[in-house]
Amino acid sequence: MIDKAIMSRIEQLRTMLNEHNYRYYVLDEPSIPDAEYDSLMQELKQLEAAHPEIITADSPTQRVGAAPLKEFPHVTHQVPMLSLENAFADEDIDAFQRRIQERLHSYHDITFTCEPKLDGLAVTMVYENGHLARAATRGDGTTGEDITINIRTLNDVPLRLRGDKYPALLEVRGEVYMSKAGFEKLNQHARTHHEKTFVNPRNAAAGSLRQLDSKITAQRPLSIYCYGIGLISDDWQFTSHYDMLMQLQAWGFRVSNLIERKINAKGCLEYYYQMMKKRESLPFEIDGVVYKVDDLALQQQLGFVSRAPRFAIAHKFPAQEQLTVLQDVEFQVGRTGALTPVARLQPVFVGGATVSNATLHNMDEIERKDIRIGDTVIVRRAGDVIPEVVAPVLDRRPADARLIKLPEACPVCQSEVYRSPDEAAARCMGGLYCPAQRKEAIRHFASRRAMDIEGLGERLVDQLVNLGWVHNVADVYHLELNQLAGMERMGLKSAQNILDALQKSKVTSLARFIYALGIRDVGEATAKNLADHYKSLEQLMNASEDELQTVSDIGPIVAHSIHSFFHQPHNREVISRLLAAGIHWPQVKKAESLPLQGKTYVLTGTLTQFSRDEAKAALEALGAKVAGSVSKNTTAVIAGAEAGSKLDKAQELGVAILDEAELVKLLKN
Ligand code: IVH
Repeated sequence: MIDKAIMSRIEQLRTMLNEHNYRYYVLDEPSIPDAEYDSLMQELKQLEAAHPEIITADSPTQRVGAAPLKEFPHVTHQVPMLSLENAFADEDIDAFQRRIQERLHSYHDITFTCEPKLDGLAVTMVYENGHLARAATRGDGTTGEDITINIRTLNDVPLRLRGDKYPALLEVRGEVYMSKAGFEKLNQHARTHHEKTFVNPRNAAAGSLRQLDSKITAQRPLSIYCYGIGLISDDWQFTSHYDMLMQLQAWGFRVSNLIERKINAKGCLEYYYQMMKKRESLPFEIDGVVYKVDDLALQQQLGFVSRAPRFAIAHKFPAQEQLTVLQDVEFQVGRTGALTPVARLQPVFVGGATVSNATLHNMDEIERKDIRIGDTVIVRRAGDVIPEVVAPVLDRRPADARLIKLPEACPVCQSEVYRSPDEAAARCMGGLYCPAQRKEAIRHFASRRAMDIEGLGERLVDQLVNLGWVHNVADVYHLELNQLAGMERMGLKSAQNILDALQKSKVTSLARFIYALGIRDVGEATAKNLADHYKSLEQLMNASEDELQTVSDIGPIVAHSIHSFFHQPHNREVISRLLAAGIHWPQVKKAESLPLQGKTYVLTGTLTQFSRDEAKAALEALGAKVAGSVSKNTTAVIAGAEAGSKLDKAQELGVAILDEAELVKLLKN
């Protein structure tokens, strides 16, 4: 016999854990720290281990643990799982409202519940006397697969209903899905383990839910949103769909907080456009919205036509994925020489536009996904993102599909192409000899966030480079009016506009200028950090790699890129020509001259009177720089007790060495 006090503690723990679970997963409002939840769970597990006879199927400890299945048993749905009619155009929604009103012989306003249409897979869950008895997939709508042991692993599915008032029999329906972030993480993990990746979150959700081993399902980031009921016993009555959803939430089911009631087609369309705007920023994929007549008595009157209800309709967003044929692959050369494989596609309407080119990212991706020329492929265009080839459809591969090969020579300048083993991109080694890299460098230089030269766009740069008039960015400041005016599709006026824009661009800021140079790995933020730190171009150009690493957010790789850029004679020459052409910026005010300005120290070993951070702050306050490693540019190394390799390095390079007493003196002076 089990002690009464223990039994009541077990019950208490179960109730608390279920409640925390509900707050965390269903309401998204966690009320206790994870560690506390874990310790309650631990306590319950220990008590149950000591008294296995009292373990119940709906204990919060029992979400995983079933033995793997050989196959899923089939179940027949008591109430068939129907589908929805699809609408694509605004007029379809007006027509939907009209049909409803005609059928009801009533022309009053109609209230609709508007819901996001999750892109996952439909499941149904049966609760008998408040306990989860069975869960199944939709299957063909009449029979599905019994996936109870897998559904139990979803933390947002209640194993028993909350509260004590509920119908004896309740069947709840919803959509199981995987969040965008969960999908990315799962695929990232698969990639690093050389496993197969999923094409999209929907497939990942389906694959995860239909695992015969529920322990695998338990590790997958699956969630559910519930949107309706199937069977319900007579002891409970609802009158509104919206109220029913709210009650489902109170019983412990996760219901979307994006659900709203709207009046008539007009209100539904407002909802549609509002959700369309939100679509990209939602943490999960939706492929449209669903409108349902809210009044359940009216729903009943409207009934069903073949396999779909008359009272509901799915208003779909433009599809973001379509199938088309990969006709060819070309390689584009970017500013840093990276070769990007670009798919030439049979044109296809996707994500609201006709797409005939899409990125294939890089050779690693192509090989991993096994994409070949001639394949039917899934093309994705979501929001403003560049269209991409997601995956081939392998069972449509023609016999003559061709492997995609990385060219040995640059398609533009015929220089060698090099694919470093530790980098995804293959690169043309031609540098600025390569017209493609030159063009990209000039385009970047002229771009809005760099030198902002209006009118010097892609086409003009192409022409100027092809004509041989512009070899590097400095050449653009030597263009002449009659030269420009004589070009194709260019009049005197446009030529003058370009010269004016060039003139105007000469007044800039140091940060923009650094960014415009197009140094590898130096984006806008890094350029700004460099400008703030050095305040003069000359100092930046002469900084050592070690020194560069003292600038915030700059590590060894970026420091190396910057250093080697400024040490190529070609780049130095272009810079001096740019300055000679009149490019300038307001001098950033030098910090008032401080006693240790221009000096660089390295701290090593343990100090007794200061922590490292305090010593660093004190030195910096006097204008000194404190670097992480010793070089010949180091003014002195300050060595505390047990100084190691940095001290050796200082001795080797003949750099001055100060002890703590000397540091104190230095700071006092
Ligand atoms: S109601 C009787 N509401 O869309 C109609 N379905 O094409 C039952 N879906 O199989 C469906 N979100 O998998 C409904 N808020 C939502 C939905 C939704 C996604 C899926 C569901 C269904 C399919 C219908």
